Order: sequence, then C-alpha cells, then structure tokens
Amino acid sequence: MLPRDRLIVALDVPGAAEAKSLIETLGDSVGVYKIGLELLFSGGFALAQELARHGRPIFIDAKLLDIEATVERATAAIARSGAAFLTVHALDCKTLDAAVRGRGDSALKLLGITVLTNLSPADLIEQCCDHPLAELVRHRAKLTKEAGFDGVVASGHEAAQIREVVGREFLIVTPGIRPQGAEAQDQARAVTPRAAIGAGADYLVVGRPITRAPDPRAAAEAIVGEIAAALAR
Ligand code: C5P
Repeated sequence: MLPRDRLIVALDVPGAAEAKSLIETLGDSVGVYKIGLELLFSGGFALAQELARHGRPIFIDAKLLDIEATVERATAAIARSGAAFLTVHALDCKTLDAAVRGRGDSALKLLGITVLTNLSPADLIEQCCDHPLAELVRHRAKLTKEAGFDGVVASGHEAAQIREVVGREFLIVTPGIRPQGAEAQDQARAVTPRAAIGAGADYLVVGRPITRAPDPRAAAEAIVGEIAAALAR
C-alpha cells in the first residue's frame, strides 16, 4: 500500500457538483473518498455508486445505528453500491451482528465507530457513562473485532491502546487529524498525521484541513508526505 492509499478525504460538501470538482482537483493524490451524512443526503449515494463503478474505493460514513432488521437491510443496500468501507456505531452486539449479516459475502469492509472524536470525557458523563473514555474505546474495539468487523474508527489518542487489544491485522481508521498548527475546530481529540501513524493508525480521515485549504491538492500532498515520513520511521 502506498502512503497516499492511507489518506481518506472527507467530501463534506453540500452537493455532488462540489464533490466532483474536489475529486478533479485532488485526483490520485489521495486513496479513498469518504461520503458522509451531508453529501449522502444531497446526491452522494448516486455519486458513490458512480465512483465505485469506475474502480474508486469509496467510504460510506453512514454511522448506522438502528434495530437489527434495518441495520442489516441498509448494510446490504450499501454493499450493493460497490462501496469499499461502511461505518456502524459499535455500541452493542445486536447492531454489529446485523451489519455482518447484511454485508454477506460482499467485499464491503465494516468499521465500528468507538467514541466520536469530537467527544470529550465530559460529554460521556452527559451520556450517563462514567467509564474512562479510553476504557470504553477498548471495550467497543473488542466487541467490534469479535463480531467479525474489519476495523474501528478511533482517535489517534487511543490508537496505540486499541492495537494492543485487537492485534496487527485489524484496521484502525483515525479522523480528527490536524497538521501541526492547524485549528482543531470541533474535534476534541485531534492529533497530527505523524502522531496518528506513529500510534498505529492504518488510515487517516482528513476533511477541512484539505477541503477548505487554499490549495487542497498541495495540502493533501503535504499530509501524504508526512504519512510517508512517519512510516519510514
Ligand atoms: O473536517 P474534519 O477533518 O474534522 O472531518 C473529519 C471527518 O471524519 C468528518 O467527515 C466526520 O464526520 C468524520 N468522523 C469523525 N470522527 C469520527 C468518525 C467520523 O470526525 N469518530
């Protein structure tokens, strides 16, 4: 896998036209395009199908969480689109098992969301959860692996601890990436590309630091350079 294959760009834009223009600008400088809730509800699913038909690995960030029948059938529908990755909230085994059934024998890789990277320990207390954040992340990573998922989505702060629980082959996908000196915005547990790779992340998810940069391609290339340097270390 080349360093650029490890970069997943979040196409958090209002419509397919804006997404296509970003894809044209970024071209092959990034490996995977992620389509999240904003774009999914404004033409993004049709775009995902089109890109997948052209052989692009597409990440559907649907963050599924619902009753089992719904999760199973939604996962099956997403698998039929030809997407490469899908996210599901890793809260309980019923949800995870339903997604595994829905994936069937397709090539769709399932990723469990552990604890969103915008949440801090104080936000967990608001949810009536008094477990330490890192413990909750490890617990959810274990559930996700036992269910037969391919990996987890987790912040760089917890990647090294997850690696100890899940072993080498399980994928760790890390959002909340901010190059040195960049603004954290709404991310509470942000890390640099170098720190995330150093902690054991396989893929980095980057949105605004690339999509809102004055020169998105140069921003993507700089992050790929940082990934390559971290891997070489
Ligand atoms: O712009 P920024 O780099 O913060 O975008 C991060 C992307 O990763 C967003 O699309 C967000 O929905 C997604 N994400 C996240 N934290 C997670 C899972 C997904 O930030 N735990």
